[in-house]
Amino acid sequence: MTKLRSVTLNEKAQSLCELPILSGATGPDVVDIQTLYQQTGMFTYDPGFTSTASCSSAITYIDGEKGILLYRGYPIEQLAEHCTFLEVCYLLLNGELPDTDEIQKFEDTITLHTMVHDQLTNFFKGFRRDAHPMAIMVGVVGALSSFYHDALDIKSKKDRDLSAIRLIAKVPTIVAMCHKYSTGLPFMYPQNKLNYVENFMRMMLGTPCDEFSPNPVLVRALDRILILHADHEQNASTSTVRLAGSSGANPYACITAGIACLWGAAHGGANEAVLNMLEEIGDVSNITTFINKAKDKRDPFRLMGFGHRVYKNYDPRAKLMRDTCHEVLTELGLHDDKIFKLALELERIALEDQYFVEKKLYPNVDYYSGIVLHALGIPSNMFTAMFAMGRTVGWIAHWDEMIADPEQRIGRPRQLYTGAAKRDIPPQHIKRA
Ligand code: SDX
Repeated sequence: MTKLRSVTLNEKAQSLCELPILSGATGPDVVDIQTLYQQTGMFTYDPGFTSTASCSSAITYIDGEKGILLYRGYPIEQLAEHCTFLEVCYLLLNGELPDTDEIQKFEDTITLHTMVHDQLTNFFKGFRRDAHPMAIMVGVVGALSSFYHDALDIKSKKDRDLSAIRLIAKVPTIVAMCHKYSTGLPFMYPQNKLNYVENFMRMMLGTPCDEFSPNPVLVRALDRILILHADHEQNASTSTVRLAGSSGANPYACITAGIACLWGAAHGGANEAVLNMLEEIGDVSNITTFINKAKDKRDPFRLMGFGHRVYKNYDPRAKLMRDTCHEVLTELGLHDDKIFKLALELERIALEDQYFVEKKLYPNVDYYSGIVLHALGIPSNMFTAMFAMGRTVGWIAHWDEMIADPEQRIGRPRQLYTGAAKRDIPPQHIKRA
């Protein structure tokens, strides 16, 4: 980053302090406020970090006004069309797309780490069969660190790389196990002859009783869905992973913190909430009622899958997800799917409504993902776990970048205190010895 100029903070025409302005490779410049408190005795105040850059990063760039998303400089549209999810994983982790030898080695390494320690299956038995899969994911992924004491030195790049491989390889196996556990069906072991997505689909949807023949159109669709979910700058769950990592916590604990944060309906839980919302709307004749509820300030209802903190234009992933949705429904002979047609009509009406236009509320990545996951045979309570499966690589890439960043320190925000002034305990609460 380069220091171009500075900004002076004045109060009553008195110069309070001068702060440098930094520029990155692209996007908004930043005011470096690291010395603000030292110079002025004041903090900045920015609930939700709407105007705050928490770090510098070279991984992903979003232009919310133009609806642009780049992974290591490559547009998401090109990656979704020309690359596989594992090629995108390699790109996010290493900064460049792999050549033929590099991707073959990376795929082989991932394949050889897809199995989990057999004792990990014992953790599932502690959960009720109807436990939400994200509750199980938090428990089981968090427990992974207890199996890998051999590579938890976060200062060792070799250990960090091995943890990255283990997490990218094992999270799909654990996600599939969550589903199998909820259905009472036996866990399926990975098969090394299958590619990453085929393997996951067989573990998720296959049984030991039948040969599983993955449909290549559906495999490619799911591969693309994982690409669309792989990373997204400093979103809530990635910021959680970075904050957890800044204390020196091990990578499995940090990724578990990210999984916990992603679960929220305002974040990764939205895909499940979108499908529930569409099923509640039920018919196009009810769309206006729900649009009015979403606009009513007294009503907590929001149009799930719409709006975004950064995108004030169409989320480029939503377009790609809609196309993938159409492709999968056509392949499955479901192009008349009632829910998909309802979603298209709801999108059309909302995008013409003044409220959504003025507030720049467009469909986001979660709006169509639930419909296509449902069509792929994945139950709605698994949707956020699928999001976590795609985002694991982004969380790890940011965790690794943060550990290697010479500027990184333990994250410790300050606050604007609005509580009671210093006071003594009243006599009636003081216990006589
Ligand atoms: C993800 O950050 C990321 O990058 C996240 C993500 C990723 O890849 O990691 O992209 C994944 O989380 C996508 C978002 C999924 N969530 C949803 O679809 C839930 C529905 N959306 C909203 O809850 C909301 O839009 C958020 C949480 C996504 C964004 O919230 P912000 O940025 O805090 O915006 P806001 O709540 O301040 O809303 C601004 C205005 C408000 O009205 P006013 O107070 O200005 O009058 O827009 C309104 C909101 O009431 N609004 C909505 C709305 N979203 C915002 N009104 C109706 N329906 C909505 N969906």
